[in-house]
Amino acid sequence: MSTVESQKRVLSGMRPTGQLHLGHYHGVLKNWVKLQHEYECFFFVADWHALTTHYATPQVIGDNVLSMVIDWLAAGVNPGSASIFVQSRVPEHAELHLLLSMMTPLGWLERVPSYKDQQEKLRDRDLETYGFLGYPLLQSADILIYRAGQVPVGADQVAHVELTREVARRFNHLYGREPGFEDNAEAAIKKMGKKAARLYNNLRTAYQEQGDHDALERAQALIKEQQNISLGDRERLLGYLEGSGKMILAEPQALLTPAAKMPGLDGQKMSKSYGNTIALREPIDDVAKKINTMPTDPARVRLKDPGDPDKCPVWQLHEVYSDDDTKAWVQQGCRSAGIGCLACKKPVIDAVVAELEPIQQRARQYEKDPDIVRTIIAEGCEQARESARETLQDVREAMGLSYR
Ligand code: TRP
Ligand code: SF4
Repeated sequence: MSTVESQKRVLSGMRPTGQLHLGHYHGVLKNWVKLQHEYECFFFVADWHALTTHYATPQVIGDNVLSMVIDWLAAGVNPGSASIFVQSRVPEHAELHLLLSMMTPLGWLERVPSYKDQQEKLRDRDLETYGFLGYPLLQSADILIYRAGQVPVGADQVAHVELTREVARRFNHLYGREPGFEDNAEAAIKKMGKKAARLYNNLRTAYQEQGDHDALERAQALIKEQQNISLGDRERLLGYLEGSGKMILAEPQALLTPAAKMPGLDGQKMSKSYGNTIALREPIDDVAKKINTMPTDPARVRLKDPGDPDKCPVWQLHEVYSDDDTKAWVQQGCRSAGIGCLACKKPVIDAVVAELEPIQQRARQYEKDPDIVRTIIAEGCEQARESARETLQDVREAMGLSYR
């Protein structure tokens, strides 16, 4: 596949370290479900990534792999539109990671902000390991092996995508020159026909000698217009234009997930570490219990004490779930002590239950028949491996490793 086409490919992964909750649903999964209709999508369980922090308790990971995929499917990720797979079952990721590790400066990894941050945050674990330092590079391999153009991630992961771009650039710079590249590029120019070839040469000279960016863009457009050249030649022409060589690895873009910060039961961001979550497969009775026992504005001790929704975590849930009329009813009723907190919580409970019921119903189907899930994963792994092998073959060749 050409780098141009691959820009339409999306890849993202999630670490299998616990039950998914509404924070994952609103923050990530709903976005995946939308993307699967617009792009070719690959979504994977990042089990090796989980090992970098959970190497001492790997059973946690195994327990969560299948269950996380069930949550994805239940949330609406469709195996007909997206390939769903498990990282450790596509060993090509590991080979690319190893090869990239040879040319990645240590400083690039030490500089990644999450490295020190996570070490500080997870003080109870020893993260002075080789694997943990290499985590972002493993992520780069995950992305580059599919030549993914778009990587949906949260803000905390943008630095990893940026590292990936730098690694791809360095790789292309070091190895993008296939043997006989210049001759192959010259031959490709001839294949465009006399007129286009002359134009290409003029534009290339204008860019390389005078740095004329307009000429660069016109030449790129010219290459895209060509009908009769192979994808390999197209890449050569693009590479030759900039004087670099062939693009082997494509630079991805971070597709920043809109920061829909799903509030938790205490008003902080919903997160397992705060213990303020509603799981996607939370028993429905517990949903009502959890919401009914949520803290409210502490000023409302008695029913006749007026409150302030801005000081109440329940209001934040209304902001996610309620329509304008309901929100006006809350504002008015809370400030005038016209409604009680339990009454105020009722529409939120109903909305969360309405959201979870179809998800849980689908989840139950898969729980009853986990072999369906295993088949979905097996097929996803095959689809992923097919692309991964193709890239790895190009990488091995570029690095001169294809001897037999
Ligand atoms: N590091 C990501 C996280 O902690 C998970 C991940 C691993 C990932 N590889 C990836 C995300 C590749 C996007 C692309 O959330
Ligand atoms: Fe919060 Fe609603 Fe009670 Fe006001 S009435 S304090 S918004 S739960």
